[in-house]
Order: sequence, then C-alpha cells, then structure tokens
Amino acid sequence: MTDLARAANYQEENRIGRSEKPVFHVTPPVGWLNDPNGFSIFQGKIHLFYQYHPFSDAWGPMHWGHCVSEDFVKWEELPPALAPDADYDAAGCFSGSAIETEDGHVLIYTGVMEREREDGTKEVVQQQCLAVGDGVRYEKANGNPIVSARQLPDGFSTEDFRDPKVWREGEMYYLAAGNMDEMQNGQVVLFASEDLRKWRYISVLADNQGKYGRMWECPDFFPLGQEHVLIVSPQDMQADGREFHNGNQAIALIGEYDRQNFRLREEQVISLDYGTDFYAPQTLEAEDGRRMMVAWMQSWDMDIKPAGQKWNGMMTIPRELELRDHVLYQHPARELEAYRTEPVSYADRKISGECQIPGIRGRVLDLTIELHGGDYREFILSFAANEKYHTCFRYVPAAQTIEFDRTFSGMVRDVVCQRSMKIKKAGENLKLRLILDRFSVELFVNDGEQTFTSTFYTPLDAQDIVFGCDGTATVNIEKYAISLDGNSIG
Ligand code: FRU
Repeated sequence: MTDLARAANYQEENRIGRSEKPVFHVTPPVGWLNDPNGFSIFQGKIHLFYQYHPFSDAWGPMHWGHCVSEDFVKWEELPPALAPDADYDAAGCFSGSAIETEDGHVLIYTGVMEREREDGTKEVVQQQCLAVGDGVRYEKANGNPIVSARQLPDGFSTEDFRDPKVWREGEMYYLAAGNMDEMQNGQVVLFASEDLRKWRYISVLADNQGKYGRMWECPDFFPLGQEHVLIVSPQDMQADGREFHNGNQAIALIGEYDRQNFRLREEQVISLDYGTDFYAPQTLEAEDGRRMMVAWMQSWDMDIKPAGQKWNGMMTIPRELELRDHVLYQHPARELEAYRTEPVSYADRKISGECQIPGIRGRVLDLTIELHGGDYREFILSFAANEKYHTCFRYVPAAQTIEFDRTFSGMVRDVVCQRSMKIKKAGENLKLRLILDRFSVELFVNDGEQTFTSTFYTPLDAQDIVFGCDGTATVNIEKYAISLDGNSIG
C-alpha cells in the first residue's frame, strides 16, 4: 500500500464525528492540522488543502489534507492529496499553493529532504515541487524539484526556502517563497516561469530589514484596491507595544509594487490579527473578484486542546479583504449569512450591572453588539459561560482598549490567557461582531478594521452569554445562531 493510501485509509477508519467538532470551521478529519495550503478555485469549486498529520494529534511527517466547498462555509472532506513518499520530499510535503491550469489543478509545495553530512550533522534542504490532479487525485511531477535550492543566489538559505505562492500575470507565472539571507534576515524571493515547470530567479520582493522577526514563512502577494499587499508570517518576532505579540506573527506589508525591479515598496506594516491564535494566512481570488483569506487558528507556542481530543487544529472562517483609504478591513465570508437562524435583536437596550438577555446564548453564533452611548468605565461581554466557566472581552473606553481573558475557559495548560489590543479608530461608538463556533471566537472590531482570534476548549454545556457594565451602556444587539442543516446544534 502506498503512503498516501495508508493515510486515506487511516482517515476513513478514524474519522471523528461532527458532534465533537466546530460546526463550520475546517478541522482535520482526524489528527493534526496546521497551515492552509492550496487555497484556490478549481472547476468552480473552492479547494482548501492543509498541513496534515493524520496519525496523531501532534505535528509529524507532513501530508496535505484536502477539503472542498461551494461557499466557504460548508466543507466536504476529501482523501489526503500528498504524502511524503518521494526522495525529494521524504522529510515532509510542506506548505504551498495551487493554481488552475488547462492541464489540471497544479499544486506547488515545498519538498523537504534531510541527509547526514560527512561529519555526522544533519543537513536540511527545502525545494519547490509540483503535483497535478483532477481535484481529488494528484500526481507528483517527474521533474521534481521544479525549483531547486541551487537556483538561489549565493548566501541565501537552502535550509529555509519554503511555502511557495504561485499566481499568474498575463502570460507569466510568478512564485514567491519564504527565505533568509546570509544575515538570517527574513525575505521573500521571487521566481518567474512560462510553464510552471522551469523557473528562474528574479528578485527579493521584500525583506525584513532586521525589523520583523527572522525567517519569513508563508508569503502571499496580491493587488488589493489601489495597492499591493504582501502577507508573511515571521518567526521569532518581537512585540512592539501592543502590536505583534504572537512570536509567530502574521503581518501584512502594504504599498506599491515596483514592477521594474520586482520589489514591494511598503508604506505600512500591520498586524493581521490581535488574538492568540492566527498564523500562516493564505488567500485566493474568488470568481466574483473578492480576495478571501483563511488562516490557521492556532499558535505554534500554545497547544491547548484537552488530552483525549483526537483532532487538533482549526482554520479561521474565510474572510473577505478590503483596502479602503489605506486601511485593510476583514469581513467574515458573506456566505455565512445564508446559514443564519433564530434571529434575535434589540435596539437601544440599556445594560447596567451583570445580566443575561433573553434569546442571546449559544456557542455557534454570529453576534453583533453596537455600543453607542451611556456612561461607564468598563463593558464586559462573556461567552461560553456557566457557573464554572467563562471567556470574555472587556472594553475600556478611557484607554480605548479591548482586553481578552480566557483564564476561566477550562484551560488545562499554563499558557497566555490574557491579551489586550488598542482600538485604532477611537470614538464614542464601538461595533463588535463575534463569530463563535464552539471552541473559537473571531472578533471583528469596527467593521473588521481590526480582528481578534482565539481558541478555548470549554465544555459545550457552557452556553451563556453574560453582559456586564459598571455604569450604564446603551447597545444594539443582533444575534443569529448558525446552522448548516437547519437546526441549531449549539
Ligand atoms: C508555518 C510552517 C511552514 C511550513 C509548515 C510545516 O506554520 O512552519 O513554514 O511549510 O509550517 O508544517
């Protein structure tokens, strides 16, 4: 039996029931998941692959898991697409991307090789490889690797050369990959090709100038509005004030693309998310032109899932990106709205002290709270709550901060439980949209100008939403349960 067949069989035989998982966030059928890979449209369907180790709940030899959707919300699990079974990828099929071509669905990923040097030390080589398929089955190309580590300029790292993102511009294909220069500075290297198989090195598209972490993982590059956006996920990134707290931190460089020199002239560098669990985002262009982004909703440094849970790792909800007046907004995929049920809304509701509000509870929700008046020093929104557990956001208007706290979420690990973010657009009013899906919260602040994404593994019977205010706050509330099959299942 091939390694891929073994992984597929294992997945079929050990698939975990839906009742134990989030409702509309992608998770592995069984085992471990990290980065989104190959997020693309092929024959009109949305494909999402991911770093996958089906055989245990921890990172291991990397396969590519695979699922497909027609609307970014409801996903069908498919057999794994790649296993590390060739000499050039025996140490892992690492992250990469996909593109639709006349010859089929092309995956370009990093093949990792490990070998022993004469002195006994280990040498790692990362190179870019290709596989092509029909949307379910994929075959690795004979010519792999299609971008060899030898094609890099002298001094560039051949050990850290990974996560190719491929796109087409006119007659040319481009490939951007994460890399490091001789000073161990993160950079994105750019290659070009006419046929996806023969590539030539072109430029350093951007580099971190000693500022943004070290190795830059998982680049993605695309036009948005009038500008260009380069997403990267630096490792070993130092926090700066309330920015960049994740260690492994997804950031966006926004600016102008100098096509003469194949170089991004960045005008701003921003955190893509302020929560504890958001990394390695990847985007696609939907058929209607929307730029959609999905990220791994977990942290490399904090593995908090309860022992005994046989799946580990979730994706964020796919988000629409929009660049308006130099501000990058993120919105939950609008397709989610088709799955809203059980609407409850309140206008100008006064909240003082601690209270629950009829109809506002549950763990699978699309909940918007608009604070638009009152007099108070803090406003608290607790969720996944009962007498024993809760997780909350606390809004402090004087400081214009939102604090998150999952200390009482049923945590079984000694990890970061509190984090705060500064609201960029300070003002009288604050709009909070929470997407809750059992074990995660994605907060979209002020129409997605900032987001805060975190996980918590609170037992599912903690269903309450509790409001708290030390003065009086006036709020509008709009709540929907989300259900993929008509009944809400909490
Ligand atoms: C990012 C990353 C990638 C690599 C993959 C391995 O989270 O480290 O750089 O390709 O994960 O699973």
